[in-house]
Amino acid sequence: MSPFPAYAAALRNLRLPLAYVDLARFDQNAADLVQRVRAGTGRMLPIRPATKSIRCVTLMERLLARDGYAGLMCYSAAEAAWLSRALSRPTHLLVAYPTLEPADIRACLEACEGGADITLMVDDPAHVRLLGRLAEDYGQTLSVALDLDMSLRLPGLHFGVRRSPLHSPRAALELASLIAEHDALRLDGVMGYEAQVAGLQDAVPNQRAMNAAIRVLKRASNVDLQKRRADTVAALHQAGHTLRFVNGGGTGSLEATARDRSVSEVTAGSGLYSPTLFDNFSHFQHAPAAGFVLPVVRRPAPGFVTCHGGGYVASGSAGPEKLPVPMYPEGLRLLPTEGAGEVQTPLQLDAGVSLSPGDPVFFRHAKAGELCEHFNNLVLLERGQVVDEVPTYRGQGRSFL
Ligand SMILES: Cc1ncc(COP(=O)(O)O)c(C=O)c1O
Repeated sequence: MSPFPAYAAALRNLRLPLAYVDLARFDQNAADLVQRVRAGTGRMLPIRPATKSIRCVTLMERLLARDGYAGLMCYSAAEAAWLSRALSRPTHLLVAYPTLEPADIRACLEACEGGADITLMVDDPAHVRLLGRLAEDYGQTLSVALDLDMSLRLPGLHFGVRRSPLHSPRAALELASLIAEHDALRLDGVMGYEAQVAGLQDAVPNQRAMNAAIRVLKRASNVDLQKRRADTVAALHQAGHTLRFVNGGGTGSLEATARDRSVSEVTAGSGLYSPTLFDNFSHFQHAPAAGFVLPVVRRPAPGFVTCHGGGYVASGSAGPEKLPVPMYPEGLRLLPTEGAGEVQTPLQLDAGVSLSPGDPVFFRHAKAGELCEHFNNLVLLERGQVVDEVPTYRGQGRSFL
C-alpha cells in the first residue's frame, strides 16, 4: 500500500521543500541488511555504516544502538575528527579514502590524543610518508589501513573503480613494509571494497543483455577478488602484521562479501535510505525510506505544473538515472528538456491528474546521502506521524567535500 497519502496528511502544515525519512522503513532496512549478511554464511559479521550514505548523526546513532552494527566508515578525515566529538558514544572511525590535507590529519591526531579511535586510509607511499611525518611531529602513533584494489582486470576491460593501485598481495606487502618503517604509524587493518559488485545494478528494466553480462562479470569478479583479498590478508599475517579488521563490501554485495572468510566486517549505507540507484539488484529489495517533497507553485499550461526546488541530482557518470523521480501523486513526469532544476522543476501531468498551487509532490532521489547536502533537517515519520526533525551534517554547519 502506498504510504504517500499518509505522509501527505502528516506533513500538511510543514514548510516545503523538505526531506524526510520513514523510520519504520529505515529500521526494516537495517534489520534486512543484517539478515542478508547472515544469509551469506550463517556467521554474523558486524556492519559498519557508511556515513556518506547517511549524513545525519541521529540516524547513525540509531543504527549503532542496534545489534549487528559497529563502527562507522567516514568519507573524510575532518569528518572523523568532528564525529569523534559529535557522537555520544566511543566508536571506531575508519576513514575510507586517503587525505593529504595536513590540517585534517592534525585534527585526527588531536582527536586521538583525546581518546578518539580513528584509522586513516593509505594506498601510496606519499600517504604513508606524510602521515608518518605528521604523527611523528605530534609524538603520537597513528592507525592506518591499506585500501586494496578489488577491480577485475581482463584484457581490454577494467571492471571496477579506479582508486587504489594495491592490486596484488605483493603491492600490499610493500606498502605495509613502508608503514612498518615508521615508528609513528601502526597498520591497523585493510579494506577491499568491491565497487563493481556492491554498487552496480544487475536487474535494470529493459536491459536484459546488459544485466546478464553484468551478472557474469560480477560472478567472475567475486571469484577473483575473494582470492586476492584472502591471499593478501594471509600474506600480511605471514609477514607479521596483526590486523584488527578486514573490511569489505557494500549494500549490493553483503551476501557475497560475508562468504569471504578473510573478511571480519562489512560496510553498508545506501540500503538504509534505499534510493533509486538501489532499486534494481537481482537478489534484494530494500524499502524506499527517504525522499523529499516540493511544493507546486505554478501552472505554466494545461497539463503542466512547476515545483519550487528539486535539482538534487546524484554524482557519478551523468545520465537520466541520476535524476530524482516524482512518486506521488502518481502520473507525473520530469521534462527531458529541463529535468530537475536548481530552482524550478516542471512536471508533465498524465491525463486525469490534477495539481494546484500549494500541493505537495513527493520525489525519491538517486544517491543515498547526497540529499542531505540540500537540507538542514530531516523530518522523521513514524506510523503516519511526524515524530521528530533532526539535523543533517549540513544542518550542523558541516560540509566536508
Ligand atoms: C570504500 C567503500 N566501502 C563501501 C561502500 C558501500 O557503501 P553503500 O552501501 O553506501 O553503497 C562504498 C560506497 O561507495 C565505499 O566507497
